[in-house]
Amino acid sequence: MMKGKVVIITGATSGIGKETALSLAEMGATIVIAARNIEAGEKVKKEIIQATKNNNIDCFQCDLTSLDSVREFCDSFKEKYERLDVLINNAGTWDFEGRKESKDMIENIFAVNFVAPFLMTHILIDMLKKSAPSRIISLSSGLHTGTINFDDIEFKEDWSGFKAYRQSKLAIILFTRKLANDLKDASVTVNCIHPGMVSTKLGRDAGGVSKLFFRVFGKKPKVGAETSIYLASSPDGGTITGEYWYKCKVGKASDESMDLEAAERLWKVGLDYIGAVK
Ligand SMILES: NC(=O)c1ccc[n+]([C@@H]2O[C@H](COP(=O)([O-])OP(=O)(O)OC[C@H]3O[C@@H](n4cnc5c(N)ncnc54)[C@H](OP(=O)(O)O)[C@@H]3O)[C@@H](O)[C@H]2O)c1
Repeated sequence: MMKGKVVIITGATSGIGKETALSLAEMGATIVIAARNIEAGEKVKKEIIQATKNNNIDCFQCDLTSLDSVREFCDSFKEKYERLDVLINNAGTWDFEGRKESKDMIENIFAVNFVAPFLMTHILIDMLKKSAPSRIISLSSGLHTGTINFDDIEFKEDWSGFKAYRQSKLAIILFTRKLANDLKDASVTVNCIHPGMVSTKLGRDAGGVSKLFFRVFGKKPKVGAETSIYLASSPDGGTITGEYWYKCKVGKASDESMDLEAAERLWKVGLDYIGAVK
């Protein structure tokens, strides 16, 4: 079913992304891992090859805290591959220990969870269109509450990890809805996912009670990856677009995530951050 399909997955070195890569490799897809840590990426690549006997697993370095690194990743990918069937913007971060900035001096959660996938998608969009029917899948979260803080999108005043994280995940839904509209005649579907509460490194990095909460109530990463795998491989994922998915079904996201004016405004903000796309 996935034989001959080329899939990029960011953050496939652990958690949901790793399980997604493993399952799609089992189905015969060519997997390209975008890994911040190349040694970790190579290790996962070997594990997947061993487990699936699928040798078409590749890995390039990509640190989402650096827009130059995203550009270099895309250049390396485009040099080697002629098609891209599925782009999975999976990687994500949540800073629990205070406000940080990326290598481009952008608030780190906004940079990694929104600006970097926004740039990667922009650079790869022509290839996705050329390979159509194709799919873009991004990881949002059930924590996408509130609105976009347009007056101070990087929370320079009054930052909290929760506020920055929930805004970045709302931004992903707005991005999904706007891009799906733009691509509705291009046979490129665009969807996003809430994977549920999953026991991964993301939650384990949290402090005290949250850490325990993730460990006790979190699903196993393999279960957390089910919706990503479904959207990448099922007929539904190739026909339904612009939706927020939960447990392999279209789910209900917040009213604010339906605000197409906010989506347009955010898009312009995103373009300002990424500057001219090569
Ligand atoms: N776990 C949950 O309950 C939950 C709930 C809702 C949404 N999500 C979303 O699901 C996605 C996957 O998260 P997970 O739970 O599987 O977490 P995870 O185990 O921490 O995996 C996150 C992945 O993202 C990568 N990553 C982080 N920062 C990066 C950067 N600067 N550049 C490149 N890669 C980077 C990590 O790479 P390293 O291995 O190098 O650290 C790792 O491979 C995230 O977008 C997360 O927000 C998770």
